[in-house]
Amino acid sequence: MAPAPHARLQMIGSRETEPGSTYLRPPTNGTGPADPATEEAIVSVTINWAQCHTRPVLMIPGPTELPFPVIQAMNQPPSIQYDRSFDEAVLEPTTLALRDVFQTKNEVIMMPGSGRTALEAGALSVIEPRDRVLVVGAGQFGVLMREIMNRIDADWTEFPVEWGARLDLTRLEREAERIRPKALTLVHNETSTGTTYPAAEVAKIARSVGALFLLDTVSSIAGIDVRTDEWGVDLNMTGSQKCLAAPIGMALVAVSPRAWEVMERRSKPARSWVYDLLRWKEWWVPVSRGGKVPDGAPRRQPVSMPTHLTAAMNVAVRLILEEGLAHRFRRHEVAATALRRGLAAMGIEMFPDSSIVSNTVSCLRVPRSIEPAAVVTQMRDRYGILIGTGLDKMRTTTLRIGTMGLTASPQYVLPTLSALELALRDLGYKCEPGAGVAAAQAAFADAG
Ligand SMILES: Cc1ncc(COP(=O)(O)O)c(C=O)c1O
Repeated sequence: MAPAPHARLQMIGSRETEPGSTYLRPPTNGTGPADPATEEAIVSVTINWAQCHTRPVLMIPGPTELPFPVIQAMNQPPSIQYDRSFDEAVLEPTTLALRDVFQTKNEVIMMPGSGRTALEAGALSVIEPRDRVLVVGAGQFGVLMREIMNRIDADWTEFPVEWGARLDLTRLEREAERIRPKALTLVHNETSTGTTYPAAEVAKIARSVGALFLLDTVSSIAGIDVRTDEWGVDLNMTGSQKCLAAPIGMALVAVSPRAWEVMERRSKPARSWVYDLLRWKEWWVPVSRGGKVPDGAPRRQPVSMPTHLTAAMNVAVRLILEEGLAHRFRRHEVAATALRRGLAAMGIEMFPDSSIVSNTVSCLRVPRSIEPAAVVTQMRDRYGILIGTGLDKMRTTTLRIGTMGLTASPQYVLPTLSALELALRDLGYKCEPGAGVAAAQAAFADAG
């Protein structure tokens, strides 16, 4: 295999030069006389700072880094998913604790899958063919919701929002009044554009027209305040691998009493056997919490639960609650602010309107004439930190950095800014050395 370019050894005097080359002189003492042939040789190496690490640090907007106790929770022999001890020791405490994370008194259904599973399960459970749905589409994941609604034959209308722009609530309200949808859907935190939308205000609009409010919180839950009950979110749908800092593989849906009623009044059962939430209510939720499972009786699982992932989720949720939600939201806010200040000091602009920038995903415009994919490759291969390019139509103009769970901290934000600066320098973009890190450091210091 050809050696990687950065690992190339080079004799002094060669005309070949590479940015960032460091000149190393081989040791000439301690082990006897130097080989006369190499005595004068000085070796130049472009150091690959990533090489000594076994994996890149995940600064992408999910999956994100896992706390060590969460990783450890998976290091165990298999347990039986229908065994009572698993139900009592892991499943039940996890679902109960998730209610605190979701800020709901209602049920949080946890099933194998990912964010998309949660969105699809939620949508297909409450929407029947030809039901009117108003979908706020402010980015790639709004579009995803539209596609899901399409698949279940909903009569959907998109309320398009320019990517990165504010949501016009007055216009949305008018549109909701005109359409009178059965459900209104919103992506709380658009991961494709790094924006956070005012879910509480949109919930009010949904309520004012008697619509269910379906909220995608895949990249906000446990990083940004999401008040499921207080706002009136009927289906709060998310995945495990972002700010919850759990491994990928779990879908979560918090269901309001209104949403259960709508499911119970369906003219025909939902067209999925496994992901029909009503089946979960019947098989999974105890009578004392509004379900059909006699209290104390073992629940049934519409799909076999992945025991290792559930154990990891149990620990992830415990860590979140031990930290406290208020602390966690503030931590994400400070980390994202520091990142943004650092980027600004490097002369880099954010993509979205400054009033709606996200605290979990930063979407930035790449300096002119630099390819986002080249920045990602350089940061990963040479500096060991993985960030993401933009999605879809923004792939060639933007980059995205996650500050989620563990990574919303100086331990991750400062090295990321440093690596970004170095990678950009390698690619020809110059800014004052250390300016980004210094500005971010100051922001962390200001936050106390
Ligand atoms: C806002 C949002 N919604 C939905 C999804 C899809 O989730 P998953 O990839 O877990 O299926 C994502 C994934 O990044 C997302 O960020």
